[in-house]
Amino acid sequence: MAELFEPLELRKLTIPNRVWMSPMCTYAADPAPSLAGRPTDFHLSHYASRAAGGAGLVMLEATGVRADGRISPFDLGLWSDDQIESFTRLATAITAAGAVPAIQLAHAGRKASIDRPWLGGAPLNEDQLGWTTVGPSLDSFPGHPAPRELTVEEIGELVQSFADSARRALLAGFQVVEIHAAHGYLLHSFLSPASNRRQDQYGGSLENRARIVLEVIDAVRAIWPEDLPLFLRISTTDWISEDDSNDRQGWTVTDSIQLSRWAGERGVDLIDGSSGGLEPAPIPHTRDYQTALAAQVRSESALPVAAVGRIDDPQWAQELVSSGQADAIFLGRALLRDASWPNNAAVALGASPRFIVQYDYAL
Ligand SMILES: Cc1cc2nc3c(=O)[nH]c(=O)nc-3n(C[C@H](O)[C@H](O)[C@H](O)COP(=O)(O)O)c2cc1C
Repeated sequence: MAELFEPLELRKLTIPNRVWMSPMCTYAADPAPSLAGRPTDFHLSHYASRAAGGAGLVMLEATGVRADGRISPFDLGLWSDDQIESFTRLATAITAAGAVPAIQLAHAGRKASIDRPWLGGAPLNEDQLGWTTVGPSLDSFPGHPAPRELTVEEIGELVQSFADSARRALLAGFQVVEIHAAHGYLLHSFLSPASNRRQDQYGGSLENRARIVLEVIDAVRAIWPEDLPLFLRISTTDWISEDDSNDRQGWTVTDSIQLSRWAGERGVDLIDGSSGGLEPAPIPHTRDYQTALAAQVRSESALPVAAVGRIDDPQWAQELVSSGQADAIFLGRALLRDASWPNNAAVALGASPRFIVQYDYAL
């Protein structure tokens, strides 16, 4: 039996299998003010084809909860009601192809305002459509200008922005919201002592550094329907230090386990266990560099966890799920290479592929 292709039930939502599309920025939005943040025809074909390829859940790329929360001017954003309709097309197409439409809500914080990676990804100034970034404190992300430190009042507004965007995502037809608290984005930069030097209630102890994330969870849960799941993407480690005796260094797996427990108590249904992103740091070369940490969070937090990172072999993906290391897997680059990876993996594992009706009758 291929557990990878068994449905997963979270709250009242049934996700048809456990092979999911990981959020990946495509830098394909038009930055013109009247079109900014809105999905284009590129996004429609990109996401609909992964849904048709058999992914059980298709997670849209990091979508800015505010204009300054996009990593680049070419990102998706849901900071205004006018943007809802353009997202409805995507949710409808993903659903029609048999997958669950999901959206990652994000604020890129200190890492925002950059150019597209294939053009070098350099920070952009205001003449180049860029903006001044914001962060927990004045420390900059390596190679970027220093951010402006958010005031307590602005933190409150930012928390509300996540809830407002989640409300818009629901109206557009999405069935899962994921809060992006990984990869050096704003929420992760609050969590980690390596980037958070605040002296107020949002800095210092683990409880204080986690406060903004828990407030975002509460605010989103307050508007997100009881019967639909909420995901949280975390960096299980910064790869800076795992020394828990010195909590001024980095974000550790132990911190991730505690955060996951708190998140579960507040209504998060699944942890998406990624890693890194706070500063360039050496990452182990092993295949399970990240999935092993996700498995640790799963066994010690007792929350469902999805694993991600370097998964490109159907047998191994199946093993991660069947051995209880993960409840599901997210695929990133493997799905860029092959939009039909999930259907091909189903065939290889002796499970049933999920072809869309337009193909199914002919095959
Ligand atoms: C082109 C690209 C864009 C990405 N954008 C995002 C993003 O928007 N949000 C996010 O949380 N992770 C992002 N990631 C990370 C992926 O979701 C995934 O976690 C990572 O690529 C590891 O999985 P893989 O080895 O299967 O590619 C991105 C990765 C790639 C390659």
